[in-house]
Amino acid sequence: MGNGIAHVFAQFGYAVTLIDVSEMQLQKALATIGKNLDRQVSKGLLSEEQKAATISNITTSSSISDGVIQADLVVEAATENVDLKLNIFKQMDEAALPHCILATNTSSISITKIAAVTKRPSLVIGMHFMNPVPVMKLVEIINGYATAPEVTEAINQLSIGLGKTPCIVNDYPGFIANRILMPMINEAIYSLFEGVAGVQEIDTVMKLGMAHPMGPLQLADFIGLDVCLSILRVLHDGFGNPKYAPCPLLVNMVMAGKMGAKSGEGFYQYTAGSKDLVVSKSFSK
Ligand SMILES: NC(=O)c1ccc[n+]([C@@H]2O[C@H](COP(=O)([O-])OP(=O)(O)OC[C@H]3O[C@@H](n4cnc5c(N)ncnc54)[C@H](O)[C@@H]3O)[C@@H](O)[C@H]2O)c1
Repeated sequence: MGNGIAHVFAQFGYAVTLIDVSEMQLQKALATIGKNLDRQVSKGLLSEEQKAATISNITTSSSISDGVIQADLVVEAATENVDLKLNIFKQMDEAALPHCILATNTSSISITKIAAVTKRPSLVIGMHFMNPVPVMKLVEIINGYATAPEVTEAINQLSIGLGKTPCIVNDYPGFIANRILMPMINEAIYSLFEGVAGVQEIDTVMKLGMAHPMGPLQLADFIGLDVCLSILRVLHDGFGNPKYAPCPLLVNMVMAGKMGAKSGEGFYQYTAGSKDLVVSKSFSK
């Protein structure tokens, strides 16, 4: 997600410092940005000059404090782990300029909780981009308990300026996107678990019947089954309502290391270089 966010800001003329603890991830991110810009050029969406200007707007850093020191806005998109994010926000709060807005791309962690570890909770906000960031139009803006209205408005205007369509929501478990999406994915997995239908049938019903571009099981593989499980746990714990309990099949798959596309297998199996959608052997009839 970080490379996509950096790509979009740089494309719209902002000087971006892309920060990661891993030098390898930084190099991978730059390569991904280059590949995605090439695709935009080949589709006629960007010129070669715009591509070069975008690349020249991005520098990298492997130090949080050095990376954020001059920023007016930071969008944190590190691994979805509460303790990790709280630690990063403490470091950013120490190093960033007093007026700097600290945003997070978290899918499910409370903005209010993150803001509370900083000395500037009114300047902390959720800026939830969708994957792939250069393509997807939505930015879900999440107001924490203490987020100042002028900060929300600044992020709203900024998102519009990035060619996105922002939607402002409040900070409750799953916000809006995942509160509605994850129960649908969980229900699709329950339907498979209970033998109501197979992988292909479930996804085809939702693609052709509801005009979804991707079926819920394919989408779960794309998001990552571990990510889906952790968001469902946030909903389940946050609301205390059994309707959010993750399906035991999802729990088992994650324990078995079947995380979806990124691990090579989930409800479908994935072969590098192939775009064919092949149902995993565990679910083929
Ligand atoms: N993947 C999605 O579809 C998606 C969609 C919307 C939002 N999100 C959210 O975006 C965030 C990132 O998701 P992702 O899928 O890109 O995760 P990822 O695990 O693929 O990438 C996270 C990156 O953070 C880096 N990192 C870890 N600890 C760090 C630290 N202390 N300082 C700096 N960098 C650190 C890792 O090296 C890695 O490159 C998460 O909060 C996730 O919930 C993901």
